Amino acid sequence: MPEQVQKLGVRELRQRKQTGERIVSVTAYDAQMARLVDEAGVDFILVGDSLGMTMLGYKTTIPVTMEDCLRHTAAVVRGARRAMVVGDMPFLTCHLGPEEALRQAARFLQEAGADGVKVEGGVEMAPTIRRMVQAGIPVMGHVGLLPQAVLAEGGYRVHGRTPEDADAVFADAVAVAEAGAFAVVLEGVTSSLAQRVTEALAVPTIGIGAGPRCDGQIQVLHDLLGLFEDFVPRHTKRYAELGAAVRQAIGAYGEDVRAGRFPGKEQSFS
Ligand code: KIV
Repeated sequence: MPEQVQKLGVRELRQRKQTGERIVSVTAYDAQMARLVDEAGVDFILVGDSLGMTMLGYKTTIPVTMEDCLRHTAAVVRGARRAMVVGDMPFLTCHLGPEEALRQAARFLQEAGADGVKVEGGVEMAPTIRRMVQAGIPVMGHVGLLPQAVLAEGGYRVHGRTPEDADAVFADAVAVAEAGAFAVVLEGVTSSLAQRVTEALAVPTIGIGAGPRCDGQIQVLHDLLGLFEDFVPRHTKRYAELGAAVRQAIGAYGEDVRAGRFPGKEQSFS
């Protein structure tokens, strides 16, 4: 019998705001990695639309579809036991009105088995988030640098460097929290702005490129593991060099095959 594991949910994550225990999160996109990061003790797994870059080879998250997200989220749900699993609402799914967004968000729970969804956007997304929360869907907000706005913004930039910009991101965070988000991702914002938001909100903030004062941190798994080598974001620390390890291992396998050393007796059947 597999050992019983207590699954984490919105209540446990919200409580961390009171206890001060930091929330640990990474992205994952498949069942095997989900199992590994779950066993390593992460609190929630985000099946981010960053899967466009890490899994599908796109340059941005814009081409990622609902079907892509559902398939990868379902795989992660199959691999995770303890961690909460959050699916990411992809490009445009939240911009066709709250009812359509609600319909799509529900698919994450009903078809993929996710425990909640993440919605990019601030003040303008508040009515949509409110509608989802009213319907019983746990929603994580995401403000600051919004990867789905990369084309409209003309690139990625750190937010909060002017008082006006900082106030706008602050207003976004307050709006999504007041709409019922159980946590808010702060991406690419100055540390002082992240601290201001973290002190003001009753729900946890989860930082990525937002300094050390957030209630939790999230990173893209492939960045942490050295699997995504196109560029290394400044906010990332590499904890492993799996890209190099894969090249080395497969290179050794290739040498053995070419030299007739693999398969040997142990890998062969008489
Ligand atoms: O898609 C993603 O991986 C994300 C995180 C970077 C927060 O949105």
